[in-house]
Amino acid sequence: MRSGTHPSDGAIGVFDSGFGGLTVARALIDLLPDEHLVYFGDTARYPYGPRSLDEVRGFAEQITEWMLRTHDVKAVVVACNTASAAALDTLQEQVDIPVIGVIEPGVVSAIEATESGRVGVIGTVTTIGSGAYQQAFAAADSSIELTCAACPGFVEFVERGELESDQALVLAERLLAPVIDAKVDSLLLGCTHYPFLARTISRVMGRSVTLVSSADETAFAVRRATLDGRLAARVSGDPVRRRWISSGDVATFERLGRQLLGDELADVEPHRW
Ligand code: DGL
Repeated sequence: MRSGTHPSDGAIGVFDSGFGGLTVARALIDLLPDEHLVYFGDTARYPYGPRSLDEVRGFAEQITEWMLRTHDVKAVVVACNTASAAALDTLQEQVDIPVIGVIEPGVVSAIEATESGRVGVIGTVTTIGSGAYQQAFAAADSSIELTCAACPGFVEFVERGELESDQALVLAERLLAPVIDAKVDSLLLGCTHYPFLARTISRVMGRSVTLVSSADETAFAVRRATLDGRLAARVSGDPVRRRWISSGDVATFERLGRQLLGDELADVEPHRW
């Protein structure tokens, strides 16, 4: 895969299995409001979490290739931990534009947030099983005592727009038990859907635990790329363009997506594989 031209006027492409990457898109809009954005939610194929690394890597390659070919993006943000765990290295080798994932930025924030050195990470079954977080923490700071827990079912609550139900709370109490037992003081939400469940997760973890989302830190990583010259910042003065595309039901994507991200999300376009 190679990109065509990628002038500074190109968009930043952002993708996830569905709504989760909107946490990253929100942070990007806030931090880099002048940049064009193309967001793709692969809702027809969500959830990625229970799928194999090979299958998710195939999806990530297909989406990246399509974004380069159809949208001439100048950078790709893999706003999905599962896809970052499965495909970030491969994508970075395959394309000649910056490809930014969410795992390393999240690790940096979680280490900054801990005082005790006991950090928790929660994510999808595939993300946690991939060992990507275990490796990234070991590389960043080997003194961190890391406890990981997979949280199957969390993503489905978000995709249904059910952010604070009793059922979500009961599930959270069960799935978060390992990180509570480990007495972590910093909990990294290692799935971009999870910040939408922050109230529920925080109720279970208690106020003394800092919840860390990779969204802001990922947006900072994109901005750093524009500052150090790896990514050309947009210079032209024409109005900013943001496109929202879903492989699933566009009306649902627009209704729920708007509720989650805000008014910038409008005119969702369909995409069929
Ligand atoms: N939001 C994605 C992540 O960060 C994946 C959720 C899913 O589709 O299972 O891992």
